[in-house]
Amino acid sequence: MYVNLSDRFMKLSEISKVGIVGAGTMGQGIAISCALANFETILFDVNRDALTAGLNQIQKSLEQSVNKGKLSQQDCDRALTRISLVENISALHANLIIEAVVENLKVKQTLFAQLEKVNDGKAILATNTSSIPVTQIAASLQNPSQCIGLHFFNPAHLMKLVEVISGSQTNPELILLMKDFAKALGKTPVEVKDSPGFIVNRVARHFYVESLKVLEDKVTSFDAIDNLMRSAGFRMGPFELMDLIGMDVNYAVTTSVYEGFDKAHKFKPSDIQYQKIKEGNLGKKSGKGFYDYSKK
Ligand SMILES: NC(=O)c1ccc[n+]([C@@H]2O[C@H](COP(=O)([O-])OP(=O)(O)OC[C@H]3O[C@@H](n4cnc5c(N)ncnc54)[C@H](O)[C@@H]3O)[C@@H](O)[C@H]2O)c1
Repeated sequence: MYVNLSDRFMKLSEISKVGIVGAGTMGQGIAISCALANFETILFDVNRDALTAGLNQIQKSLEQSVNKGKLSQQDCDRALTRISLVENISALHANLIIEAVVENLKVKQTLFAQLEKVNDGKAILATNTSSIPVTQIAASLQNPSQCIGLHFFNPAHLMKLVEVISGSQTNPELILLMKDFAKALGKTPVEVKDSPGFIVNRVARHFYVESLKVLEDKVTSFDAIDNLMRSAGFRMGPFELMDLIGMDVNYAVTTSVYEGFDKAHKFKPSDIQYQKIKEGNLGKKSGKGFYDYSKK
């Protein structure tokens, strides 16, 4: 059952099915959050292996929470029954669809245009982009008023903050609805103006870019920088954080913010990071980044 947003605006209680596109790092965490909050959750990925691997990782993450005493076995089992997989985008029917695919404007635009068609224009389309202005992503849609940014943080099932970003044509009622949705997931929504990198990623760029510059200048080693930053009060150092985020994702975000701010030198992406991507050292997800995870 879909509600045509142009007739009457959807209520939170009418969001029963949430579609998640992209079964990688973020899609997994968002799917866990939705399933734990009782939403029927449908996961899709263009890569079938990634879809299966994503579900396996979801199971592992939920089991970890049970082992740590943070989740009951019953809630874990129930959450897993709420998650289903679809292997074809044409089967992705939902009231709200959250995309967590690669950080690339063209890919996100094409995907949203497809999803709008598949859902007869009746689904809310939310992007988990880290940096690309929502207005640009929504530009591919017949009805950009149903597009919004829902920026979760990594690991998405544990981190509370969600930046809620409205594009220039986003329906103001949708902003309210998505703030309620984020609260229903147990998150803390913060409304943010549409601009490259929004707030957190724009500010945090300097944490990564400057640390990479320190490394480039051979001031010290990457693990020494991490140790120092942790000693200074940060929960994680920049290099372990880049490994957690994914080198490719972090580099794409820096590039997008750099271009969004007319190639301002302060956001210039680092060659060290580019080299890591070329070597396939993407961080935790590939087993090696700045650190080696193969034996852990
Ligand atoms: N990793 C982070 O810390 C983080 C934090 C916040 C936001 N984000 C944003 O979330 C998005 C996803 O990041 P991630 O780290 O989960 O990436 P990821 O590389 O772990 O996963 C992306 C997944 O999307 C799939 N995919 C690619 N194109 C697709 C398409 N057209 N249709 C369906 N599936 C497709 C890939 O097969 C892959 O499984 C990006 O926009 C990123 O900027 C990432």
